[in-house]
Amino acid sequence: MTTYDDRASLTDLTTTAERVRRSVEGVIEGKPEVVRLSLTVLLAEGHLLIEDVPGVGKTMLAKALARSVDCSVRRIQFTPDLLPSDITGVSIFDQQRRDFEFKPGAIFAQIVIGDEINRASPKTQSALLESMEERQVTIDGHTYELPEPFMVVATQNPVEMEGTYPLPEAQRDRFMARVSIGYPSAEAELQMLDVHGGASPLDDLQPVAHADDIVKLIDAVRTVHVAESVRRYAVELVSATRRHPDLRLGASPRATLHLLRAAKASAALGGRDYALPDDVQALAVAVLAHRLLPTAQAQLNRRTAEQVVLDILQRVPVPTSGVTAAPAQHLPDGPVYGRQPGARRL
Ligand SMILES: Nc1ncnc2c1ncn2[C@@H]1O[C@H](COP(=O)(O)OP(=O)(O)OP(=O)(O)O)[C@@H](O)[C@H]1O
Ligand SMILES: [Mg+2]
Repeated sequence: MTTYDDRASLTDLTTTAERVRRSVEGVIEGKPEVVRLSLTVLLAEGHLLIEDVPGVGKTMLAKALARSVDCSVRRIQFTPDLLPSDITGVSIFDQQRRDFEFKPGAIFAQIVIGDEINRASPKTQSALLESMEERQVTIDGHTYELPEPFMVVATQNPVEMEGTYPLPEAQRDRFMARVSIGYPSAEAELQMLDVHGGASPLDDLQPVAHADDIVKLIDAVRTVHVAESVRRYAVELVSATRRHPDLRLGASPRATLHLLRAAKASAALGGRDYALPDDVQALAVAVLAHRLLPTAQAQLNRRTAEQVVLDILQRVPVPTSGVTAAPAQHLPDGPVYGRQPGARRL
């Protein structure tokens, strides 16, 4: 376990993260904040939902991140006929050995790109989301661990809804953050024409970090200190969503955990071994908005969940003192996702 007492390693870690960031940014034009958020989610052991209109680079972002890290990658194109067992795997009886053999499904990879997740049936979606959360798959009484690092980057297109199964709120809650990429600026779009006009720059992308480096980074992120006042601030923000008159569903305690973990990753990316209220603020919309349900009245008034989070950020007082002092010694958070003892690694 890397500790932050070892200052050199903090520098190493930020350098590695920086290399990955630059590699992805070399492919996705004019979207530095989206790239940073994807990296934050990777280091915070979360999963990312990319929701946007067609052709803005959703698949490209997921692929660029996967290719920049030297790790196993699987891409699942979701369709209505995809079965839960295509995701998780199946046990097949081997006549010769007279025993069952497990054939792992598409989820057994370190970075899993789930393209157009809303095209899969709810049963298949829930197979994916369950294993995503538990980081393991149980088939016929045997539990198989998913590899580390493990991140699902799912994309969905909110415009074309026909024949799709939008993710229910309970499922959306399992994504640490949701991001929309948005159209590039005219300058960035011009640059894209130059760079992407011929062969795709994705083809030339070489890994700039090893999967083991990412695991070390994740360990280091766990040790980032969050002062009590900052933790309290995150709790205040989340609980304000539960009381807000424009919302009929607020954010879950899982959301608070995700917000804190993302804030720690953001601090580490910024080269700090402590999280600031700014880290929490900067991530609040991406981490909270996709879990919230505006009331019918708020929808009529065209008030979005993002606006509500921004409103809450305005109202909840920001802690100003005691946010940076790191204790002499602190223990890293325990594993957030409990693996069952005896789970098998493939
Ligand atoms: N910001 C951007 N920077 C670089 N290339 C971009 C950008 N936005 C879009 N593109 C280009 O547009 C093309 C389409 O991107 P991509 O396939 O990732 O879109 P998508 O959002 O996944 O679309 P769909 O919803 O149809 O699957 C890619 O070839 C990519 O080069
Ligand atoms: Mg796509």
